[in-house]
Amino acid sequence: MLKRTHKCGELRAENVGRTVTLNGWVDSYRHHGSLIFIDVRDHTGVTQLVFDPDQGKEMYDLAATYRREDVIAAQGKIVKRQSVNAKIPTGEIEIVVGKSERLNKCAKPPMLPDESRDDTGAVSEDTRLRYRYIDLRRPRMQQIIRTRHKVTQIIRNTMTEMGFCEIETPVLCKSTPEGARDFLVPCRLMPRTFYALPQSPQILKQILMMSGFDRYFQIVKCFRDENLRFDRQPEFTQLDVEMAFVEQDDVFAAFEQVIRAVWKELLNVEVSDIPRLTYDEVMNTYGSDKPDLRYGVKLYDITAIARKCDFRVFTSAMESGGVVKAIAVPGAGSFSRKQTDALAEWVKQFGAGGLPTTKVSAGGKLEGGIAKFLDAVAPELIATLGANDGDLICFAADKLDVVNRVLGELRRKMANELKLASENQWAMFWVVDFPLFLWNEEDQRWDSAHHPFCAPRPEQLHLLETDPHKITAQTYDFVINGHEMVSGSIRIHQPEVQQKIFKLLNISDEEAKDRFGFLIEAMSYGCPPLGGFAMGLDRLVMLLCKTDNIRDVIAFPKTQTGADLMMQAPSAVGAKQLDELNILLKPEAK
Ligand code: AMO
Repeated sequence: MLKRTHKCGELRAENVGRTVTLNGWVDSYRHHGSLIFIDVRDHTGVTQLVFDPDQGKEMYDLAATYRREDVIAAQGKIVKRQSVNAKIPTGEIEIVVGKSERLNKCAKPPMLPDESRDDTGAVSEDTRLRYRYIDLRRPRMQQIIRTRHKVTQIIRNTMTEMGFCEIETPVLCKSTPEGARDFLVPCRLMPRTFYALPQSPQILKQILMMSGFDRYFQIVKCFRDENLRFDRQPEFTQLDVEMAFVEQDDVFAAFEQVIRAVWKELLNVEVSDIPRLTYDEVMNTYGSDKPDLRYGVKLYDITAIARKCDFRVFTSAMESGGVVKAIAVPGAGSFSRKQTDALAEWVKQFGAGGLPTTKVSAGGKLEGGIAKFLDAVAPELIATLGANDGDLICFAADKLDVVNRVLGELRRKMANELKLASENQWAMFWVVDFPLFLWNEEDQRWDSAHHPFCAPRPEQLHLLETDPHKITAQTYDFVINGHEMVSGSIRIHQPEVQQKIFKLLNISDEEAKDRFGFLIEAMSYGCPPLGGFAMGLDRLVMLLCKTDNIRDVIAFPKTQTGADLMMQAPSAVGAKQLDELNILLKPEAK
């Protein structure tokens, strides 16, 4: 084999005159007069090869059979190109090939790793996933996967510098309570029992603190059988962290050091002071616990103003104890009736009855929509919202949580459509003071807002028996540009408090013993105060690489229905394998 001396993106004008060998894939080929031009590609870029019959007829004839994605080797002399291609770094040179070899032939490719093609949507994502090995040859995919490697490298270095120890935890585990369904693995050696794949190493990292490791981290796969979305995969990666003898501020400082290092080393951006907002504040002001703060469009409570209007939607909401809130969306004043009607339909999925709107016209007047009901309050309303000419004012009148949800979702949708967020801005903040419990209306019981090991504020412990809804947890999230990147909490470290929380969550003593008995037991043998967090690594790389598709940042991802199209997983297994596992399949439903 003609082994490479250089990579395909390396050679420049100053190398002219040298004889080099390149290995790679045929990216493109064209005949031009008696010459054949081939761009050979590897992960570093492309170089133009020139095959001239005067350099050897046999080699030239071989080159005439090279087709796209064949794997080839070529040796030759670097010369200056007559017509420079300023678009590529190797554009000033080409190689006049003296020797060449086909290392492997490519069958007729079902798709090509050609950047322009998927921009035009000519190749479907299913085809890309089915032939992932070709898709991953695309420069964009190479850049993303290599960025991901750099990010993990920076994280590992930073964690190690801070004194954290990376410890692996098992993949064959017992069910962990992160709120999703478990993936189960049948155990052959113990018939009728199952391992669960960990939804996160939550309990084990807490136990590692009890074992005296003090500072743990792991870049770890987690598995959750839940409905998939643009930023959710059934198996995904976390930077998982736990610390002993800490309070919330210590955990924040550790994560902030990681985020600062990644932004500095990867983007050369200094992250400025990171604000902390309370859960109540973000819910009331932005209608979401992970708002994008690159733009304003705040929710304002205008119930007092609404009282002065004779508009039935407002009055009936207020009469049944609801509130009226509004947002002013810059630039949306030009929306047509058809567009605002479509928005009114769209908000119904979040519980709204409809969407009253009006426009701010030149001179600070309200026009269209429900303007006629707002005559008396127009200046006050415009001043309260800080609305400007050309804004569309959207209202929601209902129970507070419905109003917040509707306007929060609408705020996000409108900002996307109107491109209100700047591409190169990073709006990072902590959300603190989450409630400890959320009331589950459907099942009529309390649920953990996060997971059952989050510690309540110590001064509120007495409310456990009387007013659980009033308790704030020492739980926090970290949000970047509207994406929840991190969740974490200070944990409960006293077994008696843990037991009280299980009781409130309706987890019986028996169930608690069965599911987390080992944790409670470990807590009774000397548990330090502890806390930690987990960051979604895939989501971080999505942000850094500016893609809104989580599958782009994972080499071999799953589709929305959890399938790997390349491996064809999941798949049926043979009767013998099932028999060994003591599994009898239910007959297919007719
Ligand atoms: P949580 O469940 O909030 O917390 O997860 C932490 C972070 O992991 C990311 N994430 C996901 N990313 C892709 N696909 C998914 N299906 C998915 N689910 C979660 C998010 C999220 O913020 N054990 C706790 C952490 C702790 O308390 O220390 C936990 O796992 O970015």
